[in-house]
Amino acid sequence: MKTMEAIYNRRSIRKFTAQKIKDEDIKTLLRAAMMAPTAVNAQEWEFLVIREKEKLSEITKIHPHSQMLKQADAAIIICANMEKEIIPGYWIGDCGACAQNILLAATELGLGSVWLGVQPDKKRVEDFRKLFKLPKHIMPFNVIALGYPAEKRDEKDRYDDKKVHLEHW
Ligand SMILES: Cc1cc2nc3c(=O)[nH]c(=O)nc-3n(C[C@H](O)[C@H](O)[C@H](O)COP(=O)(O)O)c2cc1C
Repeated sequence: MKTMEAIYNRRSIRKFTAQKIKDEDIKTLLRAAMMAPTAVNAQEWEFLVIREKEKLSEITKIHPHSQMLKQADAAIIICANMEKEIIPGYWIGDCGACAQNILLAATELGLGSVWLGVQPDKKRVEDFRKLFKLPKHIMPFNVIALGYPAEKRDEKDRYDDKKVHLEHW
């Protein structure tokens, strides 16, 4: 799949089939994640891979917009290791780039995915910390729900000339 094809085809998928994702495909997603750019090459990310159905369901109790996890085959919780933070605050952009790499790689693999926001919601962050017994220096950023798609969403071109400002505002 060409990059632009993956960009256009990536849509948030919230319905999944029961088909299992191969471990090697999860590894491919993590490999893609770790190829993302980071400020001063900090690579401060860490990943929690969840495959157990019960744990996926547990997340739906602490995240109000995550019901699709009951059908999902896997979730990747992207976290930042704050001990590896170099320039304060840049971890958010770094984890975002990393998340987008996972979404695009999932699209190429024929997987459906959706980004579930955690940070900066303080309560969600605390609830994830508790549920997964995260050490203090590990900050949950988001969750990527994954599975084979049971819904088709059309590619969309959202290009809007009005949002582009050339040389001056
Ligand atoms: C920071 C962020 C948080 C999001 N949180 C959720 C969420 O909690 N639950 C959900 O179903 N979708 C969530 N989404 C997905 C958006 O709803 C989705 O990307 C948006 O509606 C555009 O649709 P598309 O992804 O199909 O292009 C989130 C996306 C981002 C970038």
